[in-house]
Amino acid sequence: MSTTEKNIVWHDASVSRKERSKRLGHESFVLWFTGLSGSGKSTLANAVSRKLFEEDRLTYVLDGDNVRHGLNKDLGFSPEDRQENIRRIGEVAKLFVDAGTIVSTAFISPYKEDRAQVRNLLNDGEFFEVYVKCSLDTCEQRDPKGLYQKARKGEIPEFTGISSPYEEPEAPEIVIDTEEYNIEKAADAILEQLREKGLL
Ligand code: ADX
Repeated sequence: MSTTEKNIVWHDASVSRKERSKRLGHESFVLWFTGLSGSGKSTLANAVSRKLFEEDRLTYVLDGDNVRHGLNKDLGFSPEDRQENIRRIGEVAKLFVDAGTIVSTAFISPYKEDRAQVRNLLNDGEFFEVYVKCSLDTCEQRDPKGLYQKARKGEIPEFTGISSPYEEPEAPEIVIDTEEYNIEKAADAILEQLREKGLL
């Protein structure tokens, strides 16, 4: 059913995004971190967020494990649930951008199509896909939550990389290899690239 059929009409905001951006003194956009569990997405997103905050910018991190405790606690890990997980986060990220925030999202987001839909939801220059690259071997060795071990034993169904696919980004704006860079250097590299793009 369309919104018109549901009798829902858009209400314009009294404060525009442009005005908020002027007040805050910076652009707002999404840094969409994607990668395997254990690749370092959340740690890196938080490190970048901290650095941006230290430079007086308004930032926020939306993290898979945390969002799945609240907003998305009704969702599991089937392809359909993951799609809905990413759709909702895309919408939330869009609201954050409208609110003037630089929002970093840390979700596996394993499907290309789901990531592309979020990209389409946002305007040019508002969505930056950051591929947190790390081999399955290394993620499995790190296994910070012991989940790979459980997945190998068959205790977690549809585990990304083991029994569920991860589709690598084809043309991400930023690629960070966390086997090569430590978190501090990786976060600096991201800020550097954002500066080069004129976003900071
Ligand atoms: S996504 O695929 O829908 O984007 P999301 O990032 O929200 O996933 O959640 C991934 C986190 O949930 C992982 O870091 C891990 O801690 C936990 N998790 C639990 N079950 C699974 C599973 N079957 N596959 C992947 N991650 C899982």
